[in-house]
Amino acid sequence: MESVVFGLIGAGGIAQSQHLPNLSRAPHAFLKTVCDVREDVLRQMQQKYSVPHATADYRSLLSDPEIRAVVVATREDMQAALTIEALRAGKHVYVEKPLAETSEACADVVAAQRETGRFVAVGFNRRFAPAYRKAKEIARAEGGAWNIHYRISDEYWRWGKGYPPGVRVVHEVCHIFDLLRWLTDSEVASVYCAQSRADDESLVLTFRSGCVASIMSSGYATMDLPKERLEIITERGAVTVEDFVELRTFGFAHREPVLRFAGHTHPDREFTHKYLLESEGAAALFALRRLAWTLRYAAEANVPAEGQQPPPDPREVRRYLNETSPHWNYMVDKGWLPALDHFAQCILRNEPPENAGAQDGLRASLLSHAAIRSRDTGAVVFMDGDETG
Ligand SMILES: NC(=O)c1ccc[n+]([C@@H]2O[C@H](COP(=O)([O-])OP(=O)(O)OC[C@H]3O[C@@H](n4cnc5c(N)ncnc54)[C@H](O)[C@@H]3O)[C@@H](O)[C@H]2O)c1
Repeated sequence: MESVVFGLIGAGGIAQSQHLPNLSRAPHAFLKTVCDVREDVLRQMQQKYSVPHATADYRSLLSDPEIRAVVVATREDMQAALTIEALRAGKHVYVEKPLAETSEACADVVAAQRETGRFVAVGFNRRFAPAYRKAKEIARAEGGAWNIHYRISDEYWRWGKGYPPGVRVVHEVCHIFDLLRWLTDSEVASVYCAQSRADDESLVLTFRSGCVASIMSSGYATMDLPKERLEIITERGAVTVEDFVELRTFGFAHREPVLRFAGHTHPDREFTHKYLLESEGAAALFALRRLAWTLRYAAEANVPAEGQQPPPDPREVRRYLNETSPHWNYMVDKGWLPALDHFAQCILRNEPPENAGAQDGLRASLLSHAAIRSRDTGAVVFMDGDETG
């Protein structure tokens, strides 16, 4: 099968949990060169995924004429600049979200994309999550979405990546802005955002289609609570999705009431959860996360875990959680692999991809910053129709 030759810049967290394993198994992609400024990580990843070349200098990767496409997964402070440089070197670019910290930097990527005519995909992978594709199909067929609620909550935001307080709306909620625009096929008309404390927020959005949506975003949940939940009220009924694994329909006599979606196989981890999620759906998800959380809690507090004597050995628990158990955040299928493979296929066919593009990255950024303005002023912020040109 024909495949696109890729380079990867930034072999950190998301690259190790998704892009490296996915590039090594995506049918239409071949990873030729991995790049990271951390030499130890670079060598480890090169060896683990049998990547032919490794370099600490991204410019040498960009000057390789055989490489047609680049995945940029450094951090948001440099992703826009690297994307522009890669576009100007003639590469197609899959860049992680958020495209940039400022809307101005996102607009520069939009301009470079137009100037070079290359494709840009922004890592809003939820557009490719199998459960969400099905939810969108049902919502459309049942008269469209009128009211949507989305919860995105986790504990690891507090574990720290060095972000200042109050920017979760830029780094995490950007995913949901993009998802809601995609689900409704509509632009946001207004945003309101209120917080109880930094990074614990409620947002209300109105759409040009007439739909309204609310987003609960919290960096104060615990890891036994599955991270995301989607609820859509359509013209004739409702659809819910529990953390990407279980879709339920309500009010439609002709539809399956429950559909289950296998999770995401992680090459390093035990894989049975994929089949558990497929056969038991949300019940398995809750049980897996509760088990891991209980073990971790018991080890940290030095108390027996449920049904166990004596307290678990903290080193064993750490090994289990970090190396063996299904990954807290990456066990469910949020669409990372199909997003990347679709991008590669479109490059091969020279067809515009369905991935979120540079303009979608800019739209998400404008919405994040509108939400911050709303939070700061207490006012509803109305979006212009043509901010992205
Ligand atoms: N789509 C998703 O589900 C998802 C999930 C997590 C993170 N992300 C996004 O992915 C991006 C990366 O996040 P992360 O958690 O992997 O960060 P990270 O800090 O773990 O990894 C970034 C890597 O880039 C490397 N790097 C930095 N500058 C470089 C340079 N000039 N050349 C080569 N390598 C360089 C670093 O050494 C590091 O290994 C962020 O924008 C983040 O928001 C997306």
